[in-house]
Amino acid sequence: MFTMSMEDILLLLSKYYDILLVSILVISITALYLSKGAKNAKNCIPGSLGIPFVGETFALLSATNSVKGCYEFVRLRREWHGKWFKTRIFGKIHVFVPSVEGAKAIFTNDFALFNKGYVKSMADAVGKKSLLCVPQESHKRIRHLLSDPFSMNSLSKFVQRFDKMLYERLKKVQREGKSFTVLDFNMKITFDAMCDMLMSIKDSSLLEQIEKDCTAISDAMLSFPVMIPGTRYFKGIKARGRLMETFKGMITARRNGKEYYEDFLQSMLEKDSCPANQKLDDEEIMDNLLTLIIAGQTTTAAAMMWSVKFLDEHRGAQNRLREEQLSILRSKPNGALLTMDDLNSMSYASKVVKETLRMSNVLLWFPRVALNDCSIEGKFILSTLLHMWKSFEIKKGWHANIDATCIHYDPTLYKDPMQFNPSRFDVLIKFYCLENFEMLSTLLFNHAYFSHIQEIQKPYSYIPFGSGHRTCLGINMAKVTMLVFLHRLTTGYKWTVDDPDRSLERKAHIPRLRSGCPITLTALQDE
Ligand code: HEM
Repeated sequence: MFTMSMEDILLLLSKYYDILLVSILVISITALYLSKGAKNAKNCIPGSLGIPFVGETFALLSATNSVKGCYEFVRLRREWHGKWFKTRIFGKIHVFVPSVEGAKAIFTNDFALFNKGYVKSMADAVGKKSLLCVPQESHKRIRHLLSDPFSMNSLSKFVQRFDKMLYERLKKVQREGKSFTVLDFNMKITFDAMCDMLMSIKDSSLLEQIEKDCTAISDAMLSFPVMIPGTRYFKGIKARGRLMETFKGMITARRNGKEYYEDFLQSMLEKDSCPANQKLDDEEIMDNLLTLIIAGQTTTAAAMMWSVKFLDEHRGAQNRLREEQLSILRSKPNGALLTMDDLNSMSYASKVVKETLRMSNVLLWFPRVALNDCSIEGKFILSTLLHMWKSFEIKKGWHANIDATCIHYDPTLYKDPMQFNPSRFDVLIKFYCLENFEMLSTLLFNHAYFSHIQEIQKPYSYIPFGSGHRTCLGINMAKVTMLVFLHRLTTGYKWTVDDPDRSLERKAHIPRLRSGCPITLTALQDE
């Protein structure tokens, strides 16, 4: 049997102590490296960054150019890597934040830990004094000064003007008896209604010119910023120059007293004699007129188009909506326009609007950039039964995209999330109550609370208009526009969708049907 005395051991140690020392060093370094790796792996967000700079840019562009739309890029990666994933696009690392906790962490730290992720072409196109681009201090002031005309109280005139415009235009297309694309119809009417509300523009050739310029500017917002003739950027910057001249002309005419209208622009100019911090300068007025048109037109028009599509596919909801709207119509004098009180009584229509916005995800995700290294708490799904809380590390300069689409389609927040069901907003009590026993007992013992049940849902689970400092400025305007649209459409007409194709428009950042949703109207009184 082989035995070693203490002496033998010491002899061995003295002979091979250098080898031993190196071995200990190697083992220690490896252990340290592995433990650090394990820690990193614990907090690291999975995903593929691909090769430097390029990353997965081409995969995103290819999804954007397909009829499945750019969210297909996100959907596939979530399938491969899990709910939280990172990727590299145009040289920047992007993390897609899929949870209500993540959304809360970012929205509540807007400007402090995160800022809006915008690119140079965007600031060049909409202007550096646009709400979308200004730093925090200016943002607060400009937003405050822009807000009043968009409050519910101020929108009653807009409601009546939009209602009249819509009533006449729907009548016209129905009389022509032809199929027309809802998207084009909506784009034109929202644009005309906004220009009327903002600047009282009614002249059709001027409206046409401004719309063309706004489209060119909008196209330039995400283009490569080089001034080469023929490029989208070049065309957008030229269009911006023309548009600013038009706006300048209008402001001068109003200041000279040659023109006077009661509208948004006038309300801004009436502050001319106020101290500098209580008014907008001309550049701020012009950049934000443009911003409001660009932010409001395509979003609202797309949402209205989706409501037509969803209601066509869900006749039960369409019939219930029509019933509610006809009863409002019958309660009013013949030919009277809608009032704010009418809109407030549209309980089912409001749920149709809510559900349309949840399902259509007009803005798929909201981009932010991390201003410092930080971590976001989130649920990590190990299996359907096993969820763990985990902290995800975000590095300074990374883009954190609040994935509103993922949240709106989350089956733990919405039962059968892919099903269009406006009535789901009656019963959202359960999620809240599971986490809030105090509220549950209040609800059970105080029936007065039941009238508010539909308002209760998990915070940050419904975010079509964002949240926090940057919540959509046009939230009320978008809602009333959609309510008026649903009222006039369902009380005046039935419709057939002439192309059932569900393919999405290529190269679009807002999901819209490639067909534009062509429909034919039949007047209810002709049935
Ligand atoms: C259905 C229609 C609309 C939807 C779904 C929508 C959605 C949104 C969302 C999600 C944001 C926040 C984005 C972020 O946090 O990064 C936003 C911001 C904004 N929206 Fe809307 N919007 C709609 C209509 C409108 C309308 C009609 C207007 C104006 C007339 C408007 C003006 C703005 C402006 C100015 C901002 C920037 C606010 C800021 O940064 O302070 N939007 N919108």
